[in-house]
Amino acid sequence: MHNDTSISSRLDPARIPSHVAIIMDGNGRWAKARGLDRSQGHQQGVETVHTITEAAITLGVKYLTLYAFSTENWNRPDAEVAALMSLILSSMEESLFMKNNVRLLIIGDTSRLPDGVREAVLRLVERTAGNTGLTEIIALSYSSKWELTEAARAIARDAAAGRLDPDALTEDDIECRLATAGLPHPELLIRTGGELRLSNYLLWQCAYSELYFCDTYWPDFGREDFCRAILDYQQRERRFGKTSEQVADGALGIAL
Ligand code: FPP
Repeated sequence: MHNDTSISSRLDPARIPSHVAIIMDGNGRWAKARGLDRSQGHQQGVETVHTITEAAITLGVKYLTLYAFSTENWNRPDAEVAALMSLILSSMEESLFMKNNVRLLIIGDTSRLPDGVREAVLRLVERTAGNTGLTEIIALSYSSKWELTEAARAIARDAAAGRLDPDALTEDDIECRLATAGLPHPELLIRTGGELRLSNYLLWQCAYSELYFCDTYWPDFGREDFCRAILDYQQRERRFGKTSEQVADGALGIAL
């Protein structure tokens, strides 16, 4: 068992993933185990968001994408949806983003958000647009199937209008129509809470991401756990479909 200092000291600062995506799972079970309401689990989850955001900044992660609310989460009981929305609203503290020089981006179907939440998050996106530190991308009313369907719609419209030749369609034509257009793909995807699935999250973008699953519930996930995930990532060999020998020869030649 290593303590926090020894885990972070074992990290190679030259190979910190530039983009980490997280599925923050386990808030409900954390609360249930304590006889608390699920919304209290989410509340504690916001504290973890702050802790991990600060850890990402100090470690040199450039992009952090957090799955705060999925398309499927709209099907949760009304009271839980309302609690999550008000929590998201109250956690959008401008001073915190400014203090940490964090740029906020939102991916997802913002048209489904309550007006007050949509206006507040989009205002914060505007206000933080000039920040040059960490880019925090919050997936809100997001799912990959929604995102890919939107991209397909845009492509179909462009093809119908004669702006795009269907036979000449490239991966880049899809990429540039995603909610994440212009952002690098995550090198590392972390899911807390013990489930082993991707839950409709960044399916295109994580095509070659390293996946890290841990049992820790999100409210209990700390800086040490985050460092452990990055250390695990650093111990892997990323081959992108090539052989180990090719990788050793530096023949990767893939820019993601
Ligand atoms: C999954 O836990 C978590 C969510 C559906 C919401 C995550 C939201 C937050 C941490 C708060 C807001 C976030 C930001 C970025 C301000 P679950 O409820 O599915 O847990 P369970 O699997 O134990 O039931």
